[in-house]
Amino acid sequence: MPTFVHISDLHFGREQPEVIEGWFKATQAIRPDVVIISGDLTQRATDKEYRAAKQFLQSLPWPAFVIPGNHDMSATDLVERFFRPWKKWEKYIQTPLEPVVKTPDYTLVGVNTARAAGWYFDWSRGRISKQQIATVQQGLQNVPETSLKIVVAHHPFWLPKESEYRDLVERHNHALDAFQPVGLDIVISGHVHSAYTQVVQGVLIVHSGTTFSNRLNEDNPNGFNVIRGDHTQLEVEFMRWDGLQFQVAEQREFRYSNGVWQQTAGLNSI
Ligand SMILES: [Fe+2]
Ligand SMILES: [Fe+2]
Repeated sequence: MPTFVHISDLHFGREQPEVIEGWFKATQAIRPDVVIISGDLTQRATDKEYRAAKQFLQSLPWPAFVIPGNHDMSATDLVERFFRPWKKWEKYIQTPLEPVVKTPDYTLVGVNTARAAGWYFDWSRGRISKQQIATVQQGLQNVPETSLKIVVAHHPFWLPKESEYRDLVERHNHALDAFQPVGLDIVISGHVHSAYTQVVQGVLIVHSGTTFSNRLNEDNPNGFNVIRGDHTQLEVEFMRWDGLQFQVAEQREFRYSNGVWQQTAGLNSI
């Protein structure tokens, strides 16, 4: 049964070294199969920040699955943003923007929802294109039924009430409609710097707060998630920084039945 540690919105440039140290300590005890990083590795996509993110990735003793977020494109160098938005990602991180990992136990499919610009004022918003939806669908097909199927995307496919002023990823309903029939179990995201879970259209949505940065969303301390389980049952633990160490703050349990996920234990359970 695989164990995933899900971290997000690291925002190197605004990182807190004592929190990173605490995260290593906590994660050593968890011994994850994979560390999933759902984007925003840097604060302003500078060389210095990218170097720090690279150093962090290289120091991980566990396999990492990493995708970019909107902060990983320069907001000040507009030539770079519009012509080579992922130039520094390619130079420092050197992994695909949309990685895919398939094992008998789990399938991880990454989607890059960050965009250099759009027909709206807020360029931090995310989008998933029709082509990306088709590619993810293909990625989820032809894998064993017993493989836990996970999509990792930076932007939210669902938002809690207090975050509804933020924007959902464009085409989120269309994407979930396309992914659920091919057996998608979980969508893992970040961006809003708060931790939550929700079952939407039968799929489990899991968000993490910012794990290392001081860009805190009120009421949401630094945090990360531990996801354990398989295609029939899952447990999600919210880990929160208490100022000295990461502690288990909450546990939620989910079960797959009749083709949909349902919460069976923990806060807001049915
Ligand atoms: Fe962020
Ligand atoms: Fe973001």
